[in-house]
Amino acid sequence: MPESAPRRRLLPLFADVGGGRSPKTCQYRCGNACFHPAPNKSDNPYFGDIFRAVLSRRTALQGAAVTGGAGALGLSSAGTAAANERGPSPRPTFEAVQPNNDDAVTVPTGYDHHVIIRWGDPVLPGAPEFDFENQTAEAQAQQFGYNCDYVGFHQLDDDHGLLWVNHEYTNEELMFAGYTDGNDADPEQIRVAIAAHGGSILELERQSGTGEWRLAGGDRPFNRRITGNTPFRISGPAAGHELLRTEADPEGHEVLGTLNNCAGGYTPWGTFLSGEENCDQYFVGGDQVSAEEREALARYSIEVEGDTYVGRRFDRVEERFDLAKHPNEANRFYWVVEIDPTDPESKPTKRTMLGRFKHEGATTAITSDGRVAVYMGDDERFEYIYKFVSAKQYVKGSRKHNMSLLDTGTLYVGRLSGNSPEEEIDGTGTLPSDGEFDGKGEWVPLASNTESFVEGFTLEEVLIHTRSAADAVGATKMDRPEDFEPSPVTGKVYCCLTNNDAREPGQADEPNPRGPNKHGHILEVVEDGEDAGAESFTWNVPIVCGDPEDESTYFAGYDKSKVMPVSAPDNVTFDKDGNLWIATDGQPSALEINDGLHVVPVEGRFRGELRTFATVPVEAECCGPLISEDNKTAFLAPQHPGENGTVEEPTSTWPDGDFPRPSVVCVWHTGGRDVGAA
Ligand code: FEO
Ligand code: CA
Ligand code: CA
Repeated sequence: MPESAPRRRLLPLFADVGGGRSPKTCQYRCGNACFHPAPNKSDNPYFGDIFRAVLSRRTALQGAAVTGGAGALGLSSAGTAAANERGPSPRPTFEAVQPNNDDAVTVPTGYDHHVIIRWGDPVLPGAPEFDFENQTAEAQAQQFGYNCDYVGFHQLDDDHGLLWVNHEYTNEELMFAGYTDGNDADPEQIRVAIAAHGGSILELERQSGTGEWRLAGGDRPFNRRITGNTPFRISGPAAGHELLRTEADPEGHEVLGTLNNCAGGYTPWGTFLSGEENCDQYFVGGDQVSAEEREALARYSIEVEGDTYVGRRFDRVEERFDLAKHPNEANRFYWVVEIDPTDPESKPTKRTMLGRFKHEGATTAITSDGRVAVYMGDDERFEYIYKFVSAKQYVKGSRKHNMSLLDTGTLYVGRLSGNSPEEEIDGTGTLPSDGEFDGKGEWVPLASNTESFVEGFTLEEVLIHTRSAADAVGATKMDRPEDFEPSPVTGKVYCCLTNNDAREPGQADEPNPRGPNKHGHILEVVEDGEDAGAESFTWNVPIVCGDPEDESTYFAGYDKSKVMPVSAPDNVTFDKDGNLWIATDGQPSALEINDGLHVVPVEGRFRGELRTFATVPVEAECCGPLISEDNKTAFLAPQHPGENGTVEEPTSTWPDGDFPRPSVVCVWHTGGRDVGAA
C-alpha cells in the first residue's frame, strides 16, 4: 500500500480554463472531425459476432476455470490474478503530482525539468534566430517546427544522442497576429505553416552524468528539418500505381512533404517511423471530383460536400492541395514514413506496405522467428487496429537489408470478440459476471506484398484504400485507436482507445464497453504463443479511464481510492521495468484538469496503481512521451499550449512568460535516481 494515498477528488472547476474546445480550435487540430459523422459507414458489427458462435464454443470449454476464480471474487480478474502470482514488480514510488490547472510543467518533488527546444529555435547550423513579428518560410524551414508530438531518441554514445520530434500541425491563430483563416492569410504565412510541419532531428548532449539533456553545441552535423516540402520516396507494392501518380510526379515515386505526423516508433535498426494522421484538413476541391473519387475521399474524412475547410488553404500557395486539379494528391498522404537520423542526406520514405489510414503511430517488435511486427492504430471514431509482419527476418548490423524490411510482408486488421454474454455489456462500464472485459481476436490478413486477400480489391487498392478493405473483412470498430505499443519486457501490446462520444449505449461491445465513451480505455493484447507474428490473440481491458470516483472506471481491480484521474489516453511508452507510461490528450475538456503523464504498473500486485508523474501547461496536450533506455530521463512534448487563445489574447504564456510555444522538455531526478523513483 502506498504510504500516502494520492488525492482522489478533482480540483474545483475554474471558469477561465479547461472546458470544451472551441470550434475554431478543432478546425486547426483535426479538421473538425468530431463535428462530422464518423466516416466509417460500413455495417461491420460493433460486436464481433461473426465469430461469436466459434468463440462461444471455445469459451464454454474454458468457462469453468475463468468464472470459478474471478466471478467469485467479483473484482479481480483471472488475468490480474495470474499477473499477481508473478509476485512483486518494480513500482514507481515518486510523490504524485496533483491534478491542477497551472500554466506550467509540474514534476514531482525531487525532480527537475529543462526546456530543450521551443517552436522557432534554430535547428540547422546558421539558422536565423526566431523573430515572431517577421517570421518567414525560409527561416522556419531551418528552425524547430510547431506542435511537437512523438519524440524518439537514437543514442550515439553515453553522452550524445539524436532526438527525432514530429511536428504534427500548426495553430496559425497563435503563430500570426490577426490571423483569421486561410482565405485571408498572407501567402507567406501559409508557406511558414507548411515549413512548420514535418519533423526535426536534434543532436543532444548529456549534462555531466545526469538525466538532463541539452542541445549539443558545435556544428551539429546530424541536425535536420523535414517539412511539408521535403522530397520523400514512395516504396513498397503501391509505389508507382496510377492512384499515386500526379502531374508533378507522373511515375508515382516521389511526394513532397509529410503532414500531420502524430505518433511514431523507433526501429531495431535505428530509424524512426512517423504516422501521417489527420491529412484531410489540407485539401480542398473534394466536391469537384467524380462520384467514385468522392466516395474514396469521404472514407478518409476529406470534405466532399463543398463545405470546404478554410483553416489553412495550402492550395493557395501549392496547387497540388486542390483535389479538383490533382485528385490523386490525397492518396500520397496518410502513410507511415521512415527516417534515418544518422544520414542527413538520406531521402525519407513513405512505406505503402503498412497501409493508408489515419496513422497514429507505428511501433515494432521482433517475432519469435526473427521477423518484424509493426503495430498501428487508425485514430478516428469507429476505426480499426492493424498489424504488419515482415516477410524477411531482421538481421542485426545489416542496415541495407533492414531498410527494406517494411516493403515485403503481410498487413492485417484486428477483429475482436468478447467472451461475456452480450446482455452483460450494457454500455455503462459495469463489469460482466466473469469480472473482466476480455476475449479473443484475430489478425485478418488484408494483403501480402504479392497478393490481395480481400475480394474485389487488388493488392494496390488494399494498400491505398485500406479502410475500405478492412470494412470488407468485418474488422472491429474501435474507440479511436491511438498509440499501440508492445512492452519490451513482456511482449504484451497496449493500445490507447482515446474516447468516442459517438458510440451509443446500444453500440457498446466488450472491447469498447462504454457508450458514450467519454474518457477512453486501454486494451491489453497478448499474442498467441507470445509471438508478435501470431495471427490470433487474447485481449482484455485493464484500465477503463476517468475519475476513479466514477463507477464506470476500472483499474485492473486495484483499489480505486489509491489511483488518480486519467482521461483520453493517447500515447504510451515503457520504462525498462515494463511500467506503462500514459500521456493524455483531453483531460481539460473531460475532467477540467490539465493533461499529463501518468504511470501504471501492468504486472504484479500493483497492476492498476495509476499515478500522475507530470502535468503540462494550460490547454496543452502531453505528447512524447519517452523514457530513456537507462531510465534516467523522461522526455515530454507539451503540444499546443494555450490552444484556445490567440496572439492578442493568449490563454497560456508557457514556457517563457510571453506567448505560448510548443516545446520539448526533459525531466530527471536531481538525486540521480531512475525516473519513477521517490
Ligand atoms: Fe494526433 Fe491521434 O493524435
Ligand atoms: Ca469477459
Ligand atoms: Ca497522438
